[in-house]
Amino acid sequence: MPEPMLPGIPATASRFEPRPSDVFLASFPKSGTTWLKALAFATLNRVAHPRCSPDHPLRHRNPHECVDFLEMVFAGCADGDDDVFAELPSPRVLATHLPYPLLPTRIAAEGNPGKIVYVCRDPKDAFVSTWLFLLKSMAAMANGAHTAEYKIEEAFELFCDGRSGAGPQWRHVAGYWEASRRWPTKVLFLKYEEMLHDPVGNVRKLADFMGCPFSIEEEAARVVQDIAELCSIDALKNMEVNKSGSQKYFKNEAFFRKGVARDWSNHMTPAMAERLDKIVEEALQGTGLTF
Ligand code: A3P
Repeated sequence: MPEPMLPGIPATASRFEPRPSDVFLASFPKSGTTWLKALAFATLNRVAHPRCSPDHPLRHRNPHECVDFLEMVFAGCADGDDDVFAELPSPRVLATHLPYPLLPTRIAAEGNPGKIVYVCRDPKDAFVSTWLFLLKSMAAMANGAHTAEYKIEEAFELFCDGRSGAGPQWRHVAGYWEASRRWPTKVLFLKYEEMLHDPVGNVRKLADFMGCPFSIEEEAARVVQDIAELCSIDALKNMEVNKSGSQKYFKNEAFFRKGVARDWSNHMTPAMAERLDKIVEEALQGTGLTF
Protein backbone atom coordinates (compact mmCIF):
# COMPACT_ATOMS: atom_id res chain seq x y z
CA MET A 1 0.00 0.00 0.00
CA PRO A 2 1.22 3.56 -0.57
CA GLU A 3 2.90 4.69 2.66
CA PRO A 4 0.54 7.63 3.37
CA MET A 5 -2.37 5.14 3.40
CA LEU A 6 -0.87 2.87 6.07
CA PRO A 7 -2.28 4.70 9.13
CA GLY A 8 -5.71 4.38 7.49
CA ILE A 9 -5.72 0.60 7.82
CA PRO A 10 -5.71 0.27 11.63
CA ALA A 11 -7.80 3.44 11.94
CA THR A 12 -10.53 1.97 9.70
CA ALA A 13 -10.42 -1.29 11.64
CA SER A 14 -10.77 0.34 15.04
CA ARG A 15 -13.06 3.30 14.34
CA PHE A 16 -15.37 2.48 11.45
CA GLU A 17 -18.82 1.26 12.54
CA PRO A 18 -20.37 -0.73 9.66
CA ARG A 19 -24.15 -0.83 9.19
CA PRO A 20 -26.21 -3.65 7.64
CA SER A 21 -27.24 -1.36 4.74
CA ASP A 22 -23.65 -0.39 3.84
CA VAL A 23 -22.29 -1.24 0.40
CA PHE A 24 -18.51 -1.49 0.06
CA LEU A 25 -16.99 -1.24 -3.43
CA ALA A 26 -13.66 -3.01 -3.59
CA SER A 27 -11.11 -3.10 -6.38
CA PHE A 28 -7.50 -3.32 -7.36
CA PRO A 29 -6.48 0.15 -8.66
CA LYS A 30 -7.22 0.94 -12.32
CA SER A 31 -9.74 -1.87 -12.64
CA GLY A 32 -12.96 0.12 -13.04
CA THR A 33 -13.32 1.69 -9.57
CA THR A 34 -14.49 5.08 -10.88
CA TRP A 35 -17.12 3.42 -13.05
CA LEU A 36 -18.35 1.14 -10.26
CA LYS A 37 -18.55 4.12 -7.86
CA ALA A 38 -20.69 6.03 -10.36
CA LEU A 39 -22.98 3.06 -11.09
CA ALA A 40 -23.49 2.05 -7.45
CA PHE A 41 -24.02 5.64 -6.31
CA ALA A 42 -26.53 6.41 -9.09
CA THR A 43 -28.38 3.12 -8.57
CA LEU A 44 -28.59 3.26 -4.78
CA ASN A 45 -29.61 6.94 -4.72
CA ARG A 46 -31.94 6.96 -7.72
CA VAL A 47 -34.95 8.15 -5.73
CA ALA A 48 -33.16 11.05 -4.03
CA HIS A 49 -31.24 11.86 -7.22
CA PRO A 50 -33.27 11.12 -10.37
CA ARG A 51 -30.87 10.16 -13.14
CA CYS A 52 -32.03 12.85 -15.62
CA SER A 53 -31.95 15.72 -13.14
CA PRO A 54 -29.53 18.51 -14.07
CA ASP A 55 -28.66 18.61 -10.35
CA HIS A 56 -27.57 14.97 -10.22
CA PRO A 57 -24.37 14.86 -8.11
CA LEU A 58 -22.53 12.96 -10.87
CA ARG A 59 -23.05 15.94 -13.16
CA HIS A 60 -21.25 18.23 -10.72
CA ARG A 61 -18.88 15.99 -8.82
CA ASN A 62 -16.33 13.39 -9.83
CA PRO A 63 -17.41 9.85 -8.77
CA HIS A 64 -14.52 9.86 -6.26
CA GLU A 65 -16.13 12.85 -4.57
CA CYS A 66 -19.46 11.00 -4.37
CA VAL A 67 -17.99 7.83 -2.88
CA ASP A 68 -15.00 7.99 -0.51
CA PHE A 69 -12.25 5.44 -0.01
CA LEU A 70 -12.48 4.27 3.60
CA GLU A 71 -8.76 3.87 4.27
CA MET A 72 -7.85 7.13 2.54
CA VAL A 73 -10.24 9.22 4.63
CA PHE A 74 -9.18 7.52 7.86
CA ALA A 75 -5.52 7.98 6.87
CA GLY A 76 -6.13 11.72 6.81
CA CYS A 77 -7.79 11.85 10.24
CA ALA A 78 -6.16 12.78 13.50
CA ASP A 79 -5.67 10.00 16.05
CA GLY A 80 -8.50 11.10 18.35
CA ASP A 81 -11.13 11.49 15.61
CA ASP A 82 -14.23 9.31 15.83
CA ASP A 83 -15.85 7.47 12.96
CA VAL A 84 -15.83 10.16 10.26
CA PHE A 85 -18.60 8.38 8.33
CA ALA A 86 -21.05 8.28 11.26
CA GLU A 87 -22.89 11.37 9.95
CA LEU A 88 -23.57 9.88 6.51
CA PRO A 89 -27.19 8.82 6.06
CA SER A 90 -28.00 5.19 5.22
CA PRO A 91 -27.63 3.50 2.85
CA ARG A 92 -23.96 4.42 2.58
CA VAL A 93 -21.74 3.45 -0.31
CA LEU A 94 -18.01 3.46 0.42
CA ALA A 95 -14.98 2.15 -1.41
CA THR A 96 -11.69 0.43 -0.68
CA HIS A 97 -8.56 -0.71 -2.45
CA LEU A 98 -7.57 -2.85 0.55
CA PRO A 99 -6.76 -6.48 -0.22
CA TYR A 100 -9.34 -8.82 1.32
CA PRO A 101 -7.15 -9.96 4.26
CA LEU A 102 -6.65 -6.30 5.27
CA LEU A 103 -10.36 -5.49 5.37
CA PRO A 104 -11.55 -4.81 8.90
CA THR A 105 -12.84 -8.09 10.30
CA ARG A 106 -16.05 -6.26 11.22
CA ILE A 107 -16.77 -5.93 7.48
CA ALA A 108 -15.31 -9.09 5.95
CA ALA A 109 -17.11 -12.43 6.01
CA GLU A 110 -20.74 -13.39 6.17
CA GLY A 111 -22.63 -12.43 9.29
CA ASN A 112 -20.99 -9.00 9.46
CA PRO A 113 -22.87 -5.86 8.43
CA GLY A 114 -22.82 -4.70 4.82
CA LYS A 115 -22.29 -6.10 1.36
CA ILE A 116 -19.19 -6.02 -0.81
CA VAL A 117 -19.06 -5.52 -4.58
CA TYR A 118 -15.73 -6.28 -6.21
CA VAL A 119 -14.70 -5.36 -9.74
CA CYS A 120 -11.80 -7.16 -11.36
CA ARG A 121 -10.06 -6.53 -14.68
CA ASP A 122 -7.63 -8.34 -16.92
CA PRO A 123 -4.32 -7.77 -15.10
CA LYS A 124 -2.61 -6.70 -18.33
CA ASP A 125 -5.08 -3.86 -18.80
CA ALA A 126 -4.91 -2.96 -15.09
CA PHE A 127 -1.12 -2.82 -15.41
CA VAL A 128 -1.09 -0.64 -18.55
CA SER A 129 -3.76 1.66 -17.13
CA THR A 130 -1.72 2.06 -13.90
CA TRP A 131 1.49 2.76 -15.76
CA LEU A 132 -0.10 5.41 -18.01
CA PHE A 133 -1.90 6.97 -15.03
CA LEU A 134 1.37 7.27 -13.08
CA LEU A 135 3.20 8.61 -16.13
CA LYS A 136 0.59 11.31 -16.58
CA SER A 137 0.38 12.12 -12.88
CA MET A 138 4.17 12.38 -12.56
CA ALA A 139 4.25 14.79 -15.49
CA ALA A 140 1.41 16.85 -13.96
CA MET A 141 3.13 16.98 -10.57
CA ALA A 142 6.40 18.08 -12.21
CA ASN A 143 4.39 20.99 -13.63
CA GLY A 144 6.27 21.26 -16.88
CA ALA A 145 9.69 20.44 -15.38
CA HIS A 146 11.53 17.58 -17.03
CA THR A 147 11.14 14.20 -15.31
CA ALA A 148 12.99 11.01 -16.10
CA GLU A 149 10.71 8.83 -18.18
CA TYR A 150 9.09 6.00 -16.24
CA LYS A 151 9.65 3.19 -18.71
CA ILE A 152 7.10 0.44 -19.19
CA GLU A 153 9.83 -2.18 -18.73
CA GLU A 154 10.65 -0.79 -15.28
CA ALA A 155 6.98 -0.60 -14.27
CA PHE A 156 6.41 -4.12 -15.57
CA GLU A 157 9.22 -5.65 -13.48
CA LEU A 158 7.74 -4.09 -10.34
CA PHE A 159 4.21 -5.22 -11.24
CA CYS A 160 5.32 -8.80 -11.90
CA ASP A 161 7.12 -8.70 -8.58
CA GLY A 162 3.84 -7.74 -6.89
CA ARG A 163 5.24 -4.32 -6.03
CA SER A 164 2.37 -2.09 -7.10
CA GLY A 165 -0.32 -0.25 -5.12
CA ALA A 166 -2.46 -2.86 -3.30
CA GLY A 167 -0.48 -5.52 -5.16
CA PRO A 168 0.09 -8.26 -6.15
CA GLN A 169 -2.95 -7.94 -8.44
CA TRP A 170 -3.55 -11.71 -8.62
CA ARG A 171 -3.64 -12.05 -4.85
CA HIS A 172 -6.03 -9.10 -4.60
CA VAL A 173 -8.54 -10.66 -7.02
CA ALA A 174 -8.11 -14.14 -5.56
CA GLY A 175 -8.98 -12.92 -2.06
CA TYR A 176 -12.29 -11.40 -3.13
CA TRP A 177 -13.02 -14.21 -5.61
CA GLU A 178 -12.75 -16.81 -2.88
CA ALA A 179 -14.92 -14.72 -0.55
CA SER A 180 -17.57 -14.35 -3.29
CA ARG A 181 -17.62 -18.11 -3.83
CA ARG A 182 -17.92 -18.76 -0.14
CA TRP A 183 -20.51 -16.07 0.65
CA PRO A 184 -22.34 -15.19 -2.60
CA THR A 185 -24.95 -13.09 -0.82
CA LYS A 186 -22.21 -11.09 0.93
CA VAL A 187 -19.73 -10.56 -1.93
CA LEU A 188 -20.59 -9.88 -5.58
CA PHE A 189 -17.74 -10.40 -8.02
CA LEU A 190 -17.99 -8.38 -11.26
CA LYS A 191 -15.68 -8.35 -14.26
CA TYR A 192 -14.86 -5.07 -16.03
CA GLU A 193 -14.90 -6.77 -19.44
CA GLU A 194 -18.36 -8.23 -18.81
CA MET A 195 -19.58 -4.82 -17.70
CA LEU A 196 -18.33 -3.33 -20.97
CA HIS A 197 -20.09 -6.08 -22.90
CA ASP A 198 -23.41 -5.70 -21.05
CA PRO A 199 -23.57 -2.53 -18.92
CA VAL A 200 -27.35 -2.66 -18.49
CA GLY A 201 -27.39 -6.31 -17.38
CA ASN A 202 -24.63 -5.57 -14.87
CA VAL A 203 -26.47 -2.54 -13.44
CA ARG A 204 -29.48 -4.83 -12.86
CA LYS A 205 -27.23 -7.39 -11.19
CA LEU A 206 -25.74 -4.66 -9.01
CA ALA A 207 -29.16 -3.32 -8.01
CA ASP A 208 -30.48 -6.82 -7.18
CA PHE A 209 -27.41 -7.53 -5.06
CA MET A 210 -27.54 -4.20 -3.22
CA GLY A 211 -31.15 -4.95 -2.31
CA CYS A 212 -32.75 -2.28 -4.51
CA PRO A 213 -33.93 -4.14 -7.65
CA PHE A 214 -35.54 -2.12 -10.43
CA SER A 215 -39.34 -2.24 -10.39
CA ILE A 216 -41.48 -3.05 -13.43
CA GLU A 217 -42.34 0.66 -13.65
CA GLU A 218 -38.66 1.63 -13.54
CA GLU A 219 -37.84 -0.94 -16.23
CA ALA A 220 -40.63 0.47 -18.40
CA ALA A 221 -39.27 3.98 -17.88
CA ARG A 222 -35.81 2.73 -18.96
CA VAL A 223 -34.22 3.85 -15.68
CA VAL A 224 -31.57 1.13 -15.97
CA GLN A 225 -30.49 2.24 -19.44
CA ASP A 226 -30.40 5.88 -18.31
CA ILE A 227 -28.17 5.05 -15.33
CA ALA A 228 -25.82 3.05 -17.57
CA GLU A 229 -25.72 6.00 -19.98
CA LEU A 230 -25.18 8.60 -17.23
CA CYS A 231 -22.21 6.56 -15.96
CA SER A 232 -20.71 5.70 -19.36
CA ILE A 233 -17.16 6.85 -19.90
CA ASP A 234 -18.19 9.22 -22.68
CA ALA A 235 -20.85 10.89 -20.56
CA LEU A 236 -18.62 11.25 -17.48
CA LYS A 237 -15.56 12.33 -19.45
CA ASN A 238 -17.50 15.16 -21.05
CA MET A 239 -18.85 16.64 -17.84
CA GLU A 240 -17.23 19.96 -17.04
CA VAL A 241 -16.22 18.82 -13.55
CA ASN A 242 -14.28 15.91 -15.04
CA LYS A 243 -12.65 18.04 -17.71
CA SER A 244 -11.37 20.76 -15.43
CA GLY A 245 -11.66 19.72 -11.76
CA SER A 246 -9.07 18.02 -9.62
CA GLN A 247 -8.73 15.87 -6.52
CA LYS A 248 -6.21 16.10 -3.70
CA TYR A 249 -3.53 14.36 -5.76
CA PHE A 250 -4.90 13.97 -9.29
CA LYS A 251 -6.78 15.84 -11.99
CA ASN A 252 -10.30 14.47 -12.53
CA GLU A 253 -9.65 13.88 -16.22
CA ALA A 254 -6.91 11.39 -15.33
CA PHE A 255 -9.56 8.87 -14.23
CA PHE A 256 -11.03 8.61 -17.72
CA ARG A 257 -8.83 7.39 -20.54
CA LYS A 258 -10.02 4.88 -23.14
CA GLY A 259 -12.16 2.55 -21.04
CA VAL A 260 -11.83 -0.45 -23.34
CA ALA A 261 -10.65 -4.06 -23.07
CA ARG A 262 -7.32 -5.29 -24.46
CA ASP A 263 -5.65 -1.90 -24.84
CA TRP A 264 -2.65 -3.67 -23.30
CA SER A 265 -1.82 -5.00 -26.78
CA ASN A 266 -0.92 -1.43 -27.85
CA HIS A 267 1.71 -1.13 -25.12
CA MET A 268 2.99 -4.54 -24.02
CA THR A 269 5.06 -6.92 -26.11
CA PRO A 270 3.70 -10.46 -26.66
CA ALA A 271 6.55 -11.70 -24.42
CA MET A 272 5.47 -9.40 -21.57
CA ALA A 273 1.85 -10.50 -21.94
CA GLU A 274 2.84 -14.16 -21.89
CA ARG A 275 4.97 -13.66 -18.78
CA LEU A 276 2.24 -11.88 -16.83
CA ASP A 277 -0.42 -14.36 -17.98
CA LYS A 278 1.77 -17.20 -16.71
CA ILE A 279 2.31 -15.60 -13.30
CA VAL A 280 -1.43 -15.00 -12.91
CA GLU A 281 -2.45 -18.41 -14.23
CA GLU A 282 -0.12 -20.16 -11.80
CA ALA A 283 -1.29 -18.04 -8.89
CA LEU A 284 -4.98 -18.66 -9.66
CA GLN A 285 -4.65 -22.36 -10.40
CA GLY A 286 -7.45 -24.33 -8.79
CA THR A 287 -9.52 -21.25 -7.90
CA GLY A 288 -11.80 -21.49 -10.97
CA LEU A 289 -11.07 -17.84 -11.84
CA THR A 290 -9.68 -17.08 -15.30
CA PHE A 291 -9.24 -13.95 -17.39
P1 A3P B 1 -7.99 2.78 -19.12
O1 A3P B 1 -6.79 3.50 -18.56
O2 A3P B 1 -7.65 1.43 -19.63
O3 A3P B 1 -8.73 3.57 -20.13
P2 A3P B 1 -10.07 3.10 -11.93
O4 A3P B 1 -11.37 3.77 -12.00
O5 A3P B 1 -10.07 1.85 -11.08
O6 A3P B 1 -8.98 4.05 -11.57
O7 A3P B 1 -9.77 2.54 -13.39
C1 A3P B 1 -9.49 3.43 -14.43
C2 A3P B 1 -9.82 2.73 -15.73
O8 A3P B 1 -11.24 2.67 -15.89
C3 A3P B 1 -9.29 3.52 -16.92
O9 A3P B 1 -9.00 2.55 -17.92
C4 A3P B 1 -10.48 4.39 -17.28
O10 A3P B 1 -10.46 4.89 -18.59
C5 A3P B 1 -11.61 3.39 -17.06
N1 A3P B 1 -12.92 4.03 -16.81
C6 A3P B 1 -13.19 5.15 -16.08
N2 A3P B 1 -14.49 5.43 -16.10
C7 A3P B 1 -15.08 4.48 -16.86
C8 A3P B 1 -16.42 4.25 -17.28
N3 A3P B 1 -17.40 5.06 -16.92
N4 A3P B 1 -16.67 3.19 -18.07
C9 A3P B 1 -15.67 2.35 -18.44
N5 A3P B 1 -14.38 2.53 -18.09
C10 A3P B 1 -14.07 3.58 -17.30
